[in-house]
Amino acid sequence: MNEEALWIRNKVKAHNKWFEECIPMIASENLMSPLAKEMLISDFADRYAEGLPGKRYYQGNIYVDEVELKAMEMAKDLFECSFADVRPISGTVANMAVLFAFAEPGDTITTCALAQGAHISTAKFGAFGLRSVESVNYPFNESDMNLDVDGTIKLLKEVKPKVAQFGLSVFLFPPPMKELQDTFDEIGCTVWYDAAHVLGLIAGGQFHDPFREGVHVMSSSTHKTFPGPNHGMLLGHNLDEEQEKAIYRAVFPGVTSSHHLHAMAALAMTLAEQKVFARDYAAQTVKNSRALGEALYERGVDVLCPDLGFTRSHALAVDVSKFGGGKTVAQDLEDANIICNKNMLPRDTSAVKPSGIRLGVQELTRVGMKESEMVHVAELISRVCNKESPSKVREDVKELKRNFTKIRFCFSEGEEAYRFHELV
Ligand SMILES: Cc1ncc(COP(=O)(O)O)c(C=O)c1O
Repeated sequence: MNEEALWIRNKVKAHNKWFEECIPMIASENLMSPLAKEMLISDFADRYAEGLPGKRYYQGNIYVDEVELKAMEMAKDLFECSFADVRPISGTVANMAVLFAFAEPGDTITTCALAQGAHISTAKFGAFGLRSVESVNYPFNESDMNLDVDGTIKLLKEVKPKVAQFGLSVFLFPPPMKELQDTFDEIGCTVWYDAAHVLGLIAGGQFHDPFREGVHVMSSSTHKTFPGPNHGMLLGHNLDEEQEKAIYRAVFPGVTSSHHLHAMAALAMTLAEQKVFARDYAAQTVKNSRALGEALYERGVDVLCPDLGFTRSHALAVDVSKFGGGKTVAQDLEDANIICNKNMLPRDTSAVKPSGIRLGVQELTRVGMKESEMVHVAELISRVCNKESPSKVREDVKELKRNFTKIRFCFSEGEEAYRFHELV
């Protein structure tokens, strides 16, 4: 090994060790199971496949095709839908494919605003802008962090969008899809749901069931509440043949060539595991986030939506303006080994100096934490907010985490979650 190789390896090892001693609470991350990770270092990682199984442009895909077809079948089963494409290499790429399949430049798409928790793909400087679509934002109720139903119906009828898009990165409550269903039918728009954050909850029967509430196409990442690889997926229900073909074409040759076959195999493995574990995992995740919300609130930390039980997902939105704002608090928490991100809240105008932080409990749940540990985590967070020295809190964080480094809700339960695999 040369100096550079050694240096890189040591940095990555140091990261693994650090995260083993951290409380990771970024709401968009998770831990893959050891069996899924094994797929990432298989020979699939070194190969190419273009097109669909059975119709590839390259040879050498006999087993790749079988795994991909199996993944598509398992995805349709788990989400009870009629169409799956497991090739998008990320949630953003899945979103690009929907935009290419269902919208033309100049078309109007209705969506949420960034300050209300929407993802950057919906922004002018993101995927929406790249496709040159016009976006119109729904009216939003800050008090319950959800769409204003009457206002949204009115807006949909006025704007008559080609596509109505839903889904957030600060996704606390299910959007009122059932209430909007008649309006969708009336205007005949495509209903698109970005499930990146809540895919694992939907798989586990929590949050809600978009395909039974009028959604036609669902885009997603596969590594947030759904604990798979950094990858993406597209699902559809009751699409016609032309629409299905349009998605396939948008994914390839539209926004991918080869689709990271190792990640696709890791997704297949996660689908196989979540068929068994999704229900328990999702249920415990939601119990934990609500318990954390309660415990923080009792300690004077302003978690949004106390009257609604704080959340029905894995995530909490917290107003930390009285403690110095999101930027300061997220940095202090990192200094204490509690990892989260600053986040805009509905009235914020600056993404770099927002008043909030976002907390997610899906990874803590994955390593076995339950409601009692959430109380402990709330205490650690509130000590940092109240300006106790982060380095002092860090020692207690490490102490708590010592008993929670093993992976749960998968076939290889009990294996070390943060292990660095030494190859030489
Ligand atoms: C709602 C939403 N959609 C899409 C994405 C993008 O996913 P990816 O990072 O896999 O591209 C995210 C990422 O956090 C997200 O929150």
